Amino acid sequence: MERKIIIGILVLSVLGFLLMSVNDTYAQSMTNPIPLSLGKGVSVERGAAIFAQQCATCHGLSGRRDGPRSFSWTKEQYMPDLSVKEVITGRDEQLFTNIKEGLARFPEPMIVMPQWKYILSDEDIWSVIKYIQTLPRM
Ligand code: HEC
Repeated sequence: MERKIIIGILVLSVLGFLLMSVNDTYAQSMTNPIPLSLGKGVSVERGAAIFAQQCATCHGLSGRRDGPRSFSWTKEQYMPDLSVKEVITGRDEQLFTNIKEGLARFPEPMIVMPQWKYILSDEDIWSVIKYIQTLPRM
């Protein structure tokens, strides 16, 4: 009687172990298809997610000054077109500084660009610059 119980327990634990390892292999084969804006590394995907969250409201998803906020601005209120090559190529350092520190080159009623240094990390900012630099092709 005692022997049967011990064998039963052994069989159950072997089965349990097998089931667990099958489950593990399945979990390891899955990858999250959604790019995260957090985490390490500079990438266009990360930049795209940040741009959609933080920047598109003013600049528009494709950088063409057509964000939802643009409806309350007049034509005179300056907003750069981020799909223009001259604005976004060959000026990496300057773009980085202007995004990090903010930009207010004109007096009111011109719109200012907020500073992002307390909201975005340096890697976030470089990612967003990489994303902006894909805009002329869109
Ligand atoms: C409140 C509206 C607003 C938001 C939000 C905003 N911007 Fe701007 N952005 C502006 C304005 C206005 C300017 C032009 C300011 C100037 O020239 O004085 C500008 C300028 C820029 C420029 C051009 C800088 C240069 O050196 O030519 C870049 C690049 C830019 N923004 C990127 C971003 C990114 C990236 C984000 C999100 C992290 C963002 N902006 C969020 C309003 C905004």
